[in-house]
Amino acid sequence: MRRKIVAGNWKMNMDLSQTESLIDDLMKTLPESDAEVMIAPTFVNLYRAFELLKNNKIEVIAQNMHFEESGAFTGEISAAMLKSVGVKTVILGHSERRAYFGETDGILAKKVDTALKHGMEIVFCFGEELEDRKSDNHFNVVGSQLKNALFHLPADAWKNIILAYEPVWAIGTGETASPEQAQEMHEFIRKTIAEAYDEALANEVSILYGGSVKPANAEEIFGKPDVDGGLIGGAALAAADFGAIVKAI
Ligand code: 13P
Repeated sequence: MRRKIVAGNWKMNMDLSQTESLIDDLMKTLPESDAEVMIAPTFVNLYRAFELLKNNKIEVIAQNMHFEESGAFTGEISAAMLKSVGVKTVILGHSERRAYFGETDGILAKKVDTALKHGMEIVFCFGEELEDRKSDNHFNVVGSQLKNALFHLPADAWKNIILAYEPVWAIGTGETASPEQAQEMHEFIRKTIAEAYDEALANEVSILYGGSVKPANAEEIFGKPDVDGGLIGGAALAAADFGAIVKAI
């Protein structure tokens, strides 16, 4: 089912006491909304976040996980570990994981398979770099990112996939894709899925936009017909800004 979602990716920010106080602020100030609201604190604070948000609609999700089940993978976190503290949804494929930690489409396909095997939902991130856009190659890049990591899945698996289009040149730069650029790409994504599967499935997938979404531009971006919400970085770290973005949807 196509859903409206605003998700905050906290990245490597917020220690324990900062996590507690941001969650407290969010619980007090977040506006009522039909949209689903998710936050992704760092691994070490997930357990505490679940404790604090018991009986609250805000969903706690994870930023990453490993594809192996368990074993000698120092520093990694498994799907079962995430599930054991209550995580049902995991972000995979973030451009920072791809750029700084060598996550390839092939690795991501394995992570996707493992997450789905464990019944988890995935927020799958992808998006082109600035050079790709400058050389007019952005549709090719996005098409192949989707194909390589997701198109091996059976149609039935897509009910657990949320997509997040995040053009790398717009992440943390203050430069957003224009609402028209976001719509154009989201439409292309839906068309690509329709070609690989079918139109009904493509229309059911929620596609979020990420990259310098702020209170000032959220409403216009979310107003586009193929944009179903946002994956928010910097602006998710202040309750007032995140609240304003939730309100915008
Ligand atoms: P910013 O909102 O800080 O640009 O980050 C977007 C992002 O990477 C969310 O995953």
